[in-house]
Amino acid sequence: MGKLMILDHPLIQHKISLIRDKKTGTRDFRLLVDELAMLMAYEVTRDLPLKEVEIETPVAKAKTKVISGKTIGVVPVLRAGLGMVGGILSLVPAAKVGHIGIYRDPETLKPVEYYCKLPTDAAERDFIIVDPMLATGGSANGAIELLKKHGVKNIKLVCLIAAPEGVSAVQKEHDNVDIYIAALDERLNDHGYIVPGLGDAGDRLFGTK
Ligand code: PRP
Ligand code: URA
Repeated sequence: MGKLMILDHPLIQHKISLIRDKKTGTRDFRLLVDELAMLMAYEVTRDLPLKEVEIETPVAKAKTKVISGKTIGVVPVLRAGLGMVGGILSLVPAAKVGHIGIYRDPETLKPVEYYCKLPTDAAERDFIIVDPMLATGGSANGAIELLKKHGVKNIKLVCLIAAPEGVSAVQKEHDNVDIYIAALDERLNDHGYIVPGLGDAGDRLFGTK
């Protein structure tokens, strides 16, 4: 089974509290989501392979390490995932960015796919899917399936807040995908919203409600 990592760094927990607060407006919400993504990227990239190189400091030659040219792709699930892209790229600037458009039908809660544009060399990249919310898991599973259809083998899913139902759904369908979250909440309500969650991530990020 894929790993579930709950990132409990104090800075992450503090910022999660701020984005949950209904008094936090769009501008701060967007800034916090960006900062959270950057802090999480630090952990998510912990296992990037290194290679030894030799460089010359002003004092002497030194054997030292750099990231071994592993190619990374980042895929936000539209819309709310867009808010996490900048934070990841600030730590992994060479990553290419694909986009997957999936929304949740408000009646059935089933994922509806409407857009997919990936880097042409997607099959050779390791991918990080970003989406602030993992609720039923339908959207995440849809995004993972799309990447797998394009030949992607190594996928990590990074979300800010998850419901236990969403984590189980992804683990059941894709046991080779590691999940990184900042908070595991209690449950889903009758409308498929995470409780206590933070409301509608896309609307809060883009000010559409
Ligand atoms: C939200 C969220 C996830 C999805 C999670 O998107 O950003 O993509 O719901 O729910 P699930 O785990 O039950 O699939 P939404 O459908 O509201 O689309 P939007 O970002 O375009 O508003
Ligand atoms: N999508 C959201 O934006 N919020 C939830 O709580 C569930 C799905």
